[in-house]
Amino acid sequence: MVTFRLNGQPREVDVPSDTPLLWVLRDTVQLTGTKFGCGIGQCGACTVHLNGNPIRSCLTPISAVAGAEVTTIEGLSPEGDHPVQRAWVEEQVPQCGYCQSGQIMSAVALLAQTARPTDEDIDRAMTGNVCRCGTYNAIRRAIHRAAELSADAPVLAVEAEQGGDR
Ligand code: FES
Ligand code: FES
Repeated sequence: MVTFRLNGQPREVDVPSDTPLLWVLRDTVQLTGTKFGCGIGQCGACTVHLNGNPIRSCLTPISAVAGAEVTTIEGLSPEGDHPVQRAWVEEQVPQCGYCQSGQIMSAVALLAQTARPTDEDIDRAMTGNVCRCGTYNAIRRAIHRAAELSADAPVLAVEAEQGGDR
């Protein structure tokens, strides 16, 4: 049994301790926004946050998140209107969409650290997130737009709040 916090709520799962977090999210708790791409840490499709930091959930055993806060794409905002999600819509980033929740989670983590990232900051932070459809330029535009939208409300207040008493 492993206990952790998921999108602000306590969760307890009864799975082998070496089960990848990705499969706990998708199969055990039915949060399928996080995607399986490669399973070997090379594509970023499975990116979620562990205590606010982006991680590859395909490589993270569930035992590693015991007592920690995990945030998935579903936990960014109740209405899907997190500034990064709004920017993604405004800039019409997704093509097939498969990589996009991982892209968004990496972008949110970047903006939490760097409120006004340069193109170089973006390229460095997003380099591990592969997009077969080549949406990289749109992703860059959307991150700049999200930075503007977040000017009055810093991105990733979500993790800080979820680390509280809820
Ligand atoms: S599925 Fe985890 S990095 Fe590709
Ligand atoms: S939008 Fe198709 S893989 Fe990125």
